[in-house]
Amino acid sequence: MILCKATVFSKSKFGFLENVHKVLGTSKFATLKTKVMNFQIASNTEKKNIIYIIDSATELSLINTLDAKEMTFCKTAIEADEKVIWLNRLDYYEVIFCIQKKATDWQTNDTIRKAGAQIATTGNKHKVAEMCIHSLSMHKDAAYYLAEGMALSAYRFVKYRKDAEKALSTLQTICFEAQSITTSEVNRLEVMTQAIFKARTLVNEPLNYLSADQLAVEIANLGKEAGFSVKTLGKAEIEQEKMGGILAVNRGSQQPPTFNIMEYKPKNALNEKPIVLIGKGVVYDTGGLSLKPTPASMDRMKSDMSGAALVSCSMYAIARLKMPLHVIALVPATDNRPGENAYVPGDIITMYSGTTVEVLNTDAEGRLILADALHWAKRYEPALVVDFATLTGAASVAVGEHGIVCMGTAADAVKEAFQASGFRQYERLVSYPLWEEYGEMIKSDFADLKNIGGPSGGAITAGKFLEHFTDYPWMHFDIAGVSFATSQKGYLPSGGTGYGLRMLLDFLTHYSQ
Ligand code: BES
Ligand code: MN
Ligand code: ZN
Repeated sequence: MILCKATVFSKSKFGFLENVHKVLGTSKFATLKTKVMNFQIASNTEKKNIIYIIDSATELSLINTLDAKEMTFCKTAIEADEKVIWLNRLDYYEVIFCIQKKATDWQTNDTIRKAGAQIATTGNKHKVAEMCIHSLSMHKDAAYYLAEGMALSAYRFVKYRKDAEKALSTLQTICFEAQSITTSEVNRLEVMTQAIFKARTLVNEPLNYLSADQLAVEIANLGKEAGFSVKTLGKAEIEQEKMGGILAVNRGSQQPPTFNIMEYKPKNALNEKPIVLIGKGVVYDTGGLSLKPTPASMDRMKSDMSGAALVSCSMYAIARLKMPLHVIALVPATDNRPGENAYVPGDIITMYSGTTVEVLNTDAEGRLILADALHWAKRYEPALVVDFATLTGAASVAVGEHGIVCMGTAADAVKEAFQASGFRQYERLVSYPLWEEYGEMIKSDFADLKNIGGPSGGAITAGKFLEHFTDYPWMHFDIAGVSFATSQKGYLPSGGTGYGLRMLLDFLTHYSQ
C-alpha cells in the first residue's frame, strides 16, 4: 500500500498501518477542500477595481482617472493622515492606499498587510470579486504585502454551514499591474496562501472529523499534492518501537495514535544534514484524568494539533516552492482522553529513548509525545531540529496573542535568524532561557524526570523536559497563545490562524540562500 511517492522510505522496515489502509479505501475521507484566492498579473487593468499604492513621494497626477475635485479630495484625505481612500466609480471602485512613513520597516510592512485586510473587508461589503493592485510607491514589496493581507483575510471555514456560499468572501481574484510584482512573488503568494488556509482548516476541523488516523490521511494528501513522501506508523508499529510517551497519552483513547514522517529531498538540496520539523499532533486535549475545566479551557482544544498543522503545511509550501533543502517533518498524533484505561497521575512510564518519566499531571501530555519524536529525530543526525507545539498555558499567559515563546540550543546565529524572520513576518518571537535551575524543577525522586515543574516557569520547564531528548541543535516554539483566536483581527481570522508558518518559511528561505 503506497500512500504517495514513497521513494525515500522504500527500504524502511515499516509498512503502512492496517487502519490507515482501511481508512484510505473509503471515499468518506476526502481531502479537505479549501477555497483559495486566485492571483494574476494583468496586462490591462482598466475598468477593474483598482488599488493604487502611493507614498509621500508619489505624484498623484500619475492616477489619470482623478479629476480636479477628486484630486483635492485625495490631497485633503492624505493630509488628514487617512490611509485608505475609496473612490466610487460607476461600475467599479478605485482605492488609494497611502503608506505612512513613521514606522520602522517591519512595522510598515505589517501596516500594509493590515490595510490589505481592511480593503478586502470593505470590498467584501461591496460584493467585489476582483481587485487589481497597482503600486506607485517606492516601497518595492508594497504590492506583495497588501495582497498578502487581502488574501489572508479572505479565509472562511464554512464546511459545516448551510449558508456556506453566502458566508464566503466575495473576493476571489487579486490581480497585479505588471510592474508591481514579479511572477515568482505571485507564485510564492499563491503557495503561501494555500498553505496557511490548509493549516487553518486542519486546526478548525473538530475531533469528530480529525482523528489521529484522519490527520495521517490529510498529511498523505498534502504529500501527494505538493510532492513529498509520507509514511505513517500506526499503533502496532508504535508499540513495536516502544514509543512509551505516545502510547501512554493514547491509553485513555478509543482511537489509535499515528506517527507521521514526511520527507522532502530534492536533488539540489544545499544542506548535507537534514532540517527536521516536529509538530505536536494532539487532535484533542481533554487533559486526560487531570481533566481540563470546560468551557473556560477545554473548548478550544481541537486546536492542540496546531503544531502538526503548521509543520505539515510548511512541508506543502517547501515542496511546492521547490526549496533547495532536505527537510523531514515528524508528527506524533493522538487524542488525550480520560478513558477507563487512561494513564494516571503517579504512573511511571518508559519513553522511546529509555528515559523513565513520572507522570504527575496527565494534562502535560504534549511533552510526552514530542519527546518520542525528538528521540526519533536523532537517527537523521540533523543540522537543526525545530518543534512547534501548543505546549503550555504559561506561554499563552506570558505573551498573549502577540508572539511565540521560543527557546533552544541552536547557535546564536540561528536564533538571530529566527528573530529576524519573526519581525519580517510579524510573527514575533520572545526568547526564553533554558537555565539549569529549571532543569532541577523536573527531577523526580522515583524516575529520571517528572512531567511537570513547579507553579512558575511553566513554559521553560516544559522546554527543559524536551531538551532532555535532544542531542542536536534544536529550537522549540510554544505557539499556545497564537494558534487559535476567539475573534477575527486584521488578516487573522477567528479559529485557526496558521500563525508561525510564515515565520518558519521565511527562516528556511534565508537558510537556503
Ligand atoms: N494543550 C495544553 C496547552 C495549552 C493551553 C494550549 C492553552 C493552548 C491554550 C497543554 O497540553 C497543557 O495542558 N499544558 C498544561 C501543562 C501543565 C499541566 C504543566 C498547562 O499549560 O496548563
Ligand atoms: Mn494538556
Ligand atoms: Zn495539550
